[in-house]
Amino acid sequence: MDGNGRWASRRGMPREAGHRAGVAAVRRIVHAAPTLGIRCLTLYAFSSDNWRRPAQEVSSIFELMRAYLRLETRRLTRSSVRLKIIGRRDRIPEELRREFERAERRTFRGLALDLRIAVDYSSRDAITGAAARATNALCGTEPVSSELLRDRITETLFESTGEVDLLIRTGGEKRLSDFLLWECAYAELWFTDRMWPDFGVEDLFAALEEYRHRERRFGGLATPTANHASSPMGGGE
Ligand code: FPP
Repeated sequence: MDGNGRWASRRGMPREAGHRAGVAAVRRIVHAAPTLGIRCLTLYAFSSDNWRRPAQEVSSIFELMRAYLRLETRRLTRSSVRLKIIGRRDRIPEELRREFERAERRTFRGLALDLRIAVDYSSRDAITGAAARATNALCGTEPVSSELLRDRITETLFESTGEVDLLIRTGGEKRLSDFLLWECAYAELWFTDRMWPDFGVEDLFAALEEYRHRERRFGGLATPTANHASSPMGGGE
């Protein structure tokens, strides 16, 4: 969700105003996603590298998240959205952490959309963490084969997220910035110059339309029917 700061600066507003407008875009997109056939949506809201920003900006982002969860949980539950926060929790302020837990508990039964919000998230951290947990779990007296270790690491990584089909980045940058690197192995990438606060349902639809016409081979050979699904996220492989 890139471009909040620039969106605000261009209007002579403080960066915080851009993040506030960014929350409105989050509401629009989360609401529209299931109607477009999306079953899982992950939003990159705060990367572990974002701690480098001024403390005031960090706390205003956290405050916006807290307000969003406070105000939106009921609507998410009604829309059958299941929320999960991914990333490190140990550095998140207590009050916000409790809000995460509360929202996750309340939306637990949601079936229409798996909404994941990445906060204090770093893909490298997630990968090395999964490797460490799997190694610890398997380190007994018995020697462990590297195949078993590999399977366990894969399993551990898959616990929190699945494969990414389509990655959308707003704000004109063309990089992944430590986001779901492992899960994006075969993701289709879609970049737009649109700043996140201006990102609308029509942009999401355009991305899905393009995705629908991409041929996904996963390293194999093209098949005549590959990836020409009838609904935007209808699969096709
Ligand atoms: C990137 O734009 C955006 C962020 C680091 C923060 C995103 C946070 C929100 C939209 C608010 C809270 C989120 C939820 C899920 C309720 P940038 O600031 O890097 O923009 P720039 O590149 O133009 O400076």
